[in-house]
Amino acid sequence: MYTLEEIDRILEKASRLEVAGNEPPGLYEPIGYMMSIGGKRIRPKLCLLAWNLTGETLDASVLYPAMALELYHEFTLMHDDIMDRSDTRRGHPTVYRKWDENTAILSGDAMMLLAYRYLSHAPADKLPEVLNLFTETAIRICEGQQYDMDFEKMALVTMDDYLGMIGLKTAALIACPAKMGGLLGGASPAACEALYRFGWELGLAFQITDDYLDTFGDEKVFGKRIGGDIVENKKTWLLVETMRRASPEQRKSLDKLLQLGPGAREEKVAEVRAIYEELGVKEAAESEIRSYRGKALDALAAAGFPAGRTEQLVRFTDEIISRRV
Ligand code: IPE
Ligand code: IPE
Ligand code: MG
Ligand code: MG
Ligand code: MG
Repeated sequence: MYTLEEIDRILEKASRLEVAGNEPPGLYEPIGYMMSIGGKRIRPKLCLLAWNLTGETLDASVLYPAMALELYHEFTLMHDDIMDRSDTRRGHPTVYRKWDENTAILSGDAMMLLAYRYLSHAPADKLPEVLNLFTETAIRICEGQQYDMDFEKMALVTMDDYLGMIGLKTAALIACPAKMGGLLGGASPAACEALYRFGWELGLAFQITDDYLDTFGDEKVFGKRIGGDIVENKKTWLLVETMRRASPEQRKSLDKLLQLGPGAREEKVAEVRAIYEELGVKEAAESEIRSYRGKALDALAAAGFPAGRTEQLVRFTDEIISRRV
């Protein structure tokens, strides 16, 4: 059995993707750039930790599919930054800002295909199920990203709408690694489903934290420009909950603020943030994140692994819940 630290070291090595020198550089350099500017690699880590519950020998047939999840994730980020007009990621310029949109589209496409190439290293008897899980997840992300953009233009989004949207755009790609690890390690179908539910709840907590940090985080640590969600009228957990709590008066001033364009960035961000704080939504988000931690751990317990075996996954869950980056 591996510890979290050992898995970190294994992934650190595996992440040195050799694209340097590949032709044409216009396609491969942005991929090398994206992989080299960091990232937490939580998806491959989760896959290996879930595999670790039952798996014995960690070889390429597990490691490559785990890395496929990271490549796929990074592809979604490259395209997401165009959709969200984000200038900064991981403390560096986004690919479409450093190069241009066409570059980010095509290098992103190539990354997605490289991910499928990596996935094909899964053992032949498990490949159909792994491939199906991966592809269904990829489709869910597209659906979620479309809702995310549709919601920008909608005045009112309910908490159920919001949870459905973040389930698709984010939780799906956290549930998938947990289940994939189970499949690759040979866990029972029931345990694999419980792992999926665990990842799903953890994924909801992860996105609510992302929303929280986009407004209340420390820019230098978080690596993305604070306030981007407010500027883009993203329907985040904070905004949806604020709408739910606001009086008709407060709702009116909020609606006015949402109409401000990017030219009034500073004012918009500061005033929306002040309303969040006034209505207690900042603390409410913190407690909601903790509540999803509980749901995730309940699902993990239901998977039926011996407690000693799940220890590293519980540690991982707490790292995710308390993240500032
Ligand atoms: C960012 O994901 C996108 C979301 C789903 C919130 P991560 O926070 O995992 O990004 P990196 O890979 O660590 O930069
Ligand atoms: C994350 O959404 C979902 C995907 C990237 C698919 P965000 O738009 O909140 O992610 P960040 O904040 O840009 O990392
Ligand atoms: Mg987005
Ligand atoms: Mg974004
Ligand atoms: Mg975000």
